[in-house]
Amino acid sequence: MFPLLLTDQLDDERTWVFPIGISGSLSHDLGEIEAEIAALAEGLDKAGEIRLFPRPLRRPAKALLVGIGAGDESDWRAAGAAISRAVSDNEPLQIMLGEQVAMRALAEGLWLGGYRYRDAREEPRSAEIQLMTTTPQAYAESLARAHTTAVAAWFARDLANAPASLKNPDWLAEEIVGAAAKRTGVTVRIRTGAELERFGGLRAVGAASKFPPCLVEMSWHPAGATTHVALVGKGITFDSGGISIKTRPGMKNMKIDMSGAAAVAAATLGAADLNLPVRVTALLPLAENAVGAAAYRPGDVLTHYDGSTTETTNSDAEGRLVLADALGYAAAELSADVIVDVATLTGAAEIALGTRIAALFSHDDELAGALTEAGRSAGEAMWRLPLPDDYREYLRSEVADRHSSPTRGAGAVAAALYLSEFLGDQAANWAHIDMAGPSWAAETDLEITRGATGWGARTLLRYLEGLSA
Ligand code: BES
Ligand code: MN
Ligand code: ZN
Repeated sequence: MFPLLLTDQLDDERTWVFPIGISGSLSHDLGEIEAEIAALAEGLDKAGEIRLFPRPLRRPAKALLVGIGAGDESDWRAAGAAISRAVSDNEPLQIMLGEQVAMRALAEGLWLGGYRYRDAREEPRSAEIQLMTTTPQAYAESLARAHTTAVAAWFARDLANAPASLKNPDWLAEEIVGAAAKRTGVTVRIRTGAELERFGGLRAVGAASKFPPCLVEMSWHPAGATTHVALVGKGITFDSGGISIKTRPGMKNMKIDMSGAAAVAAATLGAADLNLPVRVTALLPLAENAVGAAAYRPGDVLTHYDGSTTETTNSDAEGRLVLADALGYAAAELSADVIVDVATLTGAAEIALGTRIAALFSHDDELAGALTEAGRSAGEAMWRLPLPDDYREYLRSEVADRHSSPTRGAGAVAAALYLSEFLGDQAANWAHIDMAGPSWAAETDLEITRGATGWGARTLLRYLEGLSA
């Protein structure tokens, strides 16, 4: 990631960037260009809108203006992303900040907007961006938090953007082991083969693939932690649909079906980077949902970690099967205070809420509120949907405790109800986030770069920060 530097030294060798909005003011002595900048700022009220100073300048070399709208967090994040995209990657910049700045959001926007998939042909930005303020020390902490957030989001995006020709369960597990090894205090345990005996859902979903499934358990357990959060992320490295095979357009982006796993891993690493006094256990059930002679079939009955059974009516409803085992394990073995799962679970969630809003489910109003607020602050929107008990009959099976793919509508709700069955008493302090919609962006938009969005890493990290605040 390119460096951002706080400074109180004006550098007129660099391109100057002026944020303009109701809370932004030109609080610097700009000499001869002051009046022209003020004229150019006229009517610039949209966050992220860029205007270029129209004539050649000697010092600075160049100037541009960026709208910051009303100056709230999302506006500053939009402005940061717009700045990153407006200039070439090697252009030295200095952003001139006045009295009021949402520094964390601005820095997050700069980094997120500057993201490129690390294996892409294009090099990412390398030139430092300077943040010019009269009180640099006051913003050091905000900048450090933004850095951790951006590292988490970039990590999640890199993992999800990786093609499935590279990304199988072993590869993904090794990437996570490698990232954990760069931190102190993060441990990883990987279960494979016979250790997965009780994980009947995970074994069934992974059965047809050349690459075996595994369960990654990652732990951040600082001394003195009072709260213990279990994070569970769906980790399907490619979802072909299995025997209930997907359509061509439906299958095309399915390398991102491990975005939930990427988000929980990234947030856990972020908790360690910030040394948060919160215990975090991340569970990543990893498998490829492939087609083959060993594939699990529609109508098969399998046994989950908690001993209950599922009739698998559609092999494309695979995410809930691997989550069922991981949630059952979390509920039975971890004694966590809170369990949150994140998954690209249903196309129905995308139909309901589109590509910028995830669906949130919880029986716990306080937990739902905290997650929604974390998402708002991080720039990732969620909308809560219900868990109606009377829809549970959608799940009824003749041959097992339940079946996996109800077809009576409310697909995202039915999937959430299915998951809730594996939590036992812990259903009361559990939340499920269906991020099928926002996990992929067809087009670049503000801080979202086209491709895998890394959705969830930022929200989960903010949530963990909130617990220790
Ligand atoms: N991975 C998909 C859901 C998905 C869809 C993620 C679009 C990202 C974008 C999931 O495994 C799936 O196939 N769900 C089925 C469930 C159905 C068979 C009950 C779906 O949504 O059609
Ligand atoms: Mn599927
Ligand atoms: Zn899937």
